[in-house]
Amino acid sequence: MKDFNVIILGCGTVGGGVARILCDMQEVLSSRVSGHINLKKIVDLDPKTAIDRFGIAPELFCGGGRSLTKDQADKYIKELIESDDIDLVVETIGGSNDYVEELAIRICNAKKHLVTANKALLAERGKSIFEAAKNNNVTLGFEAAVCGAIPIIKTIKESFTGDSIISLSGILNGTSNYILTMMQDEGMDFHEALKLAQDNGFAEADPSLDINGGDAGHKLVILLKLAFGIETTMDQLSITGIEKITKEDIEFAEEINCKIKLICYAKKIDSRIYATVCPMMVKKNNFLSGVNGATNAVRVVNKYAGKHILLGAGAGSYETASSIVADIVFAAKYSHVNQSVFDKNTLDFIDAKHFELPYIITFETIDRPGITGLVTTSIGNQNINIDTVSHNRHMPDRAIFSIATVPCTLLQIEKAIDEIIKGNPSLLLHTPKAIPILY
Ligand code: HSE
Repeated sequence: MKDFNVIILGCGTVGGGVARILCDMQEVLSSRVSGHINLKKIVDLDPKTAIDRFGIAPELFCGGGRSLTKDQADKYIKELIESDDIDLVVETIGGSNDYVEELAIRICNAKKHLVTANKALLAERGKSIFEAAKNNNVTLGFEAAVCGAIPIIKTIKESFTGDSIISLSGILNGTSNYILTMMQDEGMDFHEALKLAQDNGFAEADPSLDINGGDAGHKLVILLKLAFGIETTMDQLSITGIEKITKEDIEFAEEINCKIKLICYAKKIDSRIYATVCPMMVKKNNFLSGVNGATNAVRVVNKYAGKHILLGAGAGSYETASSIVADIVFAAKYSHVNQSVFDKNTLDFIDAKHFELPYIITFETIDRPGITGLVTTSIGNQNINIDTVSHNRHMPDRAIFSIATVPCTLLQIEKAIDEIIKGNPSLLLHTPKAIPILY
């Protein structure tokens, strides 16, 4: 086999990890493909940071380790992409914008294999990039885009390719899981926990995507394509983040033997699918309730193979880089394989309002005798069966309590709330919050 030459565009947390692993493992990786996997060049605007952090030789950088202007970097990128000597490009620049999309398409059109960790790009603009890879018969590796080091992409694409996936549920964002774990187990407040997640390097540069469910949503969009053959975008999914989780929610979760987790969930029912990202109260006997810190986990239920759980590091420099390197080795080994074939399905989405789940509903009300009775009566009037009612938290000017239900729809819950407001306009101090319970 001839040499297999790789370049890296963008040498930050993940790109730097890839460069380090390729240098350290050069011999052993090459022996796995019976050839030579060479890291030829790296393009980065500010190599000094990567040189210091990852101990990468300055000569590997275009410009010899000096800072580059955007124009200089673009010139180097153009030359490298067009060079016959280059086989594969690692895109670790990040961002989902015209520049990165065009770059990814150019790489494929130049018949270079492309490996990326860029979930936002694939989720928001993936169609054109998958098409470019397919048309040019090059590999598009994106194992690192979903759950860092966990081999979920290959597991779905290859190991379960003889089966039919019925449902997926998982913890796909390490930052939010870390924050919730610190709030629940260490009594930290939200901001303290977020700061620690950032210090540990697994939060996104803009952590709002971690917290508002956007990062997990990007990953779910990619998994929906892989597992169910559905082309979708985030705005078609119901996505709620963890911003509104309070100390009381955490206490109510404990009362019903649950932990709160940001869950990605997709379930196929006949020719329809329900897909959501939202905080859920996960029963403590469900495996996902014990997945703590920045760890990710995905539970896949297959028609024939049954239930499987993949667990591991969902973020981190070397962890994510290891998935990229695996894609590089795979491309070097099987570059004749067209990697971009997916099922095609047109499943209708089930409106979140109409999907039945058990819920816990939190009410913040004026504190008078008979309030719980009024609230439970309206819930009963909508034919919602109540499972448990929590202890009331009595504050000087209000009370907070929660009601856990058996499976019902959000529509039924909304109707019950409307009835409460109509009958007693001053009873509710805030719009009640409904969080699904996952058994
Ligand atoms: N910021 C992401 C997380 C890591 O916290 O899981 C990369 O997707």
